[in-house]
Amino acid sequence: MTNEDLLSRLRKVYSHFSIENLKNICPADFQNNLEQRIGTIDAESEGYSQDELEQQRDLSIKFHWGHDHDFGSFSLKGRMGNRHLRLMERFCSLFSIPLESFQSQRILDVGCWTGGTTLLLCALGAQRVVANEEVVKYANTVKYLTEAFGLENTVSIETSSLYQLQDSTHHQQYDRVYFPGVVYHLSDPVLALRIMFNSLRLGGDILIESAGINSEEPFCRFDGNFIYHNDGSTREELNRGGWNYFLPSPLALKRMMQEVGFVEVSSVWDSNTNRVFAYGKKSQQIGICKAGLSRPSIL
Ligand SMILES: C[S@@+](CC[C@H](N)C(=O)[O-])C[C@H]1O[C@@H](n2cnc3c(N)ncnc32)[C@H](O)[C@@H]1O
Repeated sequence: MTNEDLLSRLRKVYSHFSIENLKNICPADFQNNLEQRIGTIDAESEGYSQDELEQQRDLSIKFHWGHDHDFGSFSLKGRMGNRHLRLMERFCSLFSIPLESFQSQRILDVGCWTGGTTLLLCALGAQRVVANEEVVKYANTVKYLTEAFGLENTVSIETSSLYQLQDSTHHQQYDRVYFPGVVYHLSDPVLALRIMFNSLRLGGDILIESAGINSEEPFCRFDGNFIYHNDGSTREELNRGGWNYFLPSPLALKRMMQEVGFVEVSSVWDSNTNRVFAYGKKSQQIGICKAGLSRPSIL
């Protein structure tokens, strides 16, 4: 199957989530509900006090829709376009992963934003999707969408930082961790990867995508919150597009993954997207070196 065939197959399965398949909600209410969220500014309900707003990213305090979605009678443009579909195509092509391998899986969808990937995983036949997101308004939106499409028995929402996914409800629970677009936003990628490792069952795997650097060396570039993608000339422009910490080369990400216990790690630079893509497996619940860990009590 060519990349284009794969993409069109993904578009087709994703198109299931149109107003025709809404359950117990009228299309006009549904449209109204989603549209009125966009642009809402709610710093306080996200837990930020006035005096710390200057340091927060726009994405956290103002509602931005994540992935493009054509609901049939209306559509929403996302900040990430069709990235949820393109990413899935990339993972499958780069690591020879069949789309069927998502069927009947228990999957942790990390950093789900407004749920494009969560719905896609459902459309691919996942048995269970746990959608994790630290921004409350996005997690609530994914909850609303899953209820609107009658997916309550398949999807559950974890409204928390991924660093909190450490209790027994997440220990060795998942067949697959789907982890694109997040690792470079984290101040502690090694700890995060270890938490993901612990959340997998033996034999489970992880799919990671990240902004990165195209180097053969095991290097990371540190940006930090004051480096912006845009010129930052207006408040809107700033948009906290910075908010990136460590951008790894493929080899740096591979080493981090091996450090926390993953095996059969493959990590590559994808010149189509100019991003790093990685795959790894968990074959045993092996220990981790605790010296220097930011949370020495971690399993
Ligand atoms: C760039 S978006 C990626 C969305 C989607 N995973 C994708 O790849 O298209 C990053 C998402 O991760 C969320 N996020 C960032 N840090 C997080 C953390 N520590 N815990 C949970 N979610 C986080 C952000 O709020 C945002 O929704």
